[in-house]
Amino acid sequence: MSNELKHVAIIMDGNGRWAKGRGLERFLGHRKGTQATIDAVKFGCDLHLEHLTLYVFSSENWQRPSKEVDYLMKLLVEMVHKELPDLMEKNVKLVVIGNINRLPDAPRSQLQHAIDETANNTGMQLNLAISYGGRLEIVDACKAIAKEVQEGKLSLDAVDESVFAKHLYLKGAPDPDLVIRTGGEFRLSNYLLWQAAYSEFYVTPTLWPDFTNEEFQKAIEFYNTRERRFGKVLHE
Ligand code: IPE
Ligand code: IPE
Ligand code: MG
Repeated sequence: MSNELKHVAIIMDGNGRWAKGRGLERFLGHRKGTQATIDAVKFGCDLHLEHLTLYVFSSENWQRPSKEVDYLMKLLVEMVHKELPDLMEKNVKLVVIGNINRLPDAPRSQLQHAIDETANNTGMQLNLAISYGGRLEIVDACKAIAKEVQEGKLSLDAVDESVFAKHLYLKGAPDPDLVIRTGGEFRLSNYLLWQAAYSEFYVTPTLWPDFTNEEFQKAIEFYNTRERRFGKVLHE
């Protein structure tokens, strides 16, 4: 059995614990985690996904010690710079969702450069959730809709779920079919709150730096065993 699979979203958690378990500083867990991220992007391309959405940095992660935040920003600049040629070769289109204006200049301009360079690529769309919060995304959509209504561009009666979804950061892209969370926590941590309404969930205790293609494949196999009912009765 296999379910249609267009969009996978991943909560890449457990870098800190990976490092701590080895008596290392947290930042080394983040560094090691970047390799797992690169591997996951390649695997997503092999799966011919339309969208792979990765939780890189949440709106709440700004509350971490500034040393850790600075390191994560540095790592982001380094990774985007290093991986851009591969993204081009794999025809990947890079999109960032979240409050990119909160980012320091270096990561913001590096990301903007990669977004511009890959804008016409037609393969998998890689969505990086950076400075992202699901509640903020919903509030932003509400504001955008209110503005259009106020300006007379949209009638209030026309606002339905599909119009609302088009005002979210990914503008009505298919919802994630599968949400994977590493690090063992059974929570959303403010990720894709609207979009995950009917997503299948796969939680693994594996920490993000240890997440291999085999683990990714296991998540897909799990997904393929799920009966997606969307509230309906499929077998009487
Ligand atoms: C995920 O790993 C990466 C980010 C949130 C930036 P963590 O840093 O949350 O790792 P743990 O959960 O503390 O192990
Ligand atoms: C979620 O992980 C955010 C990312 C993976 C980027 P967190 O480590 O921030 O989530 P909590 O604090 O365990 O809920
Ligand atoms: Mg964590």
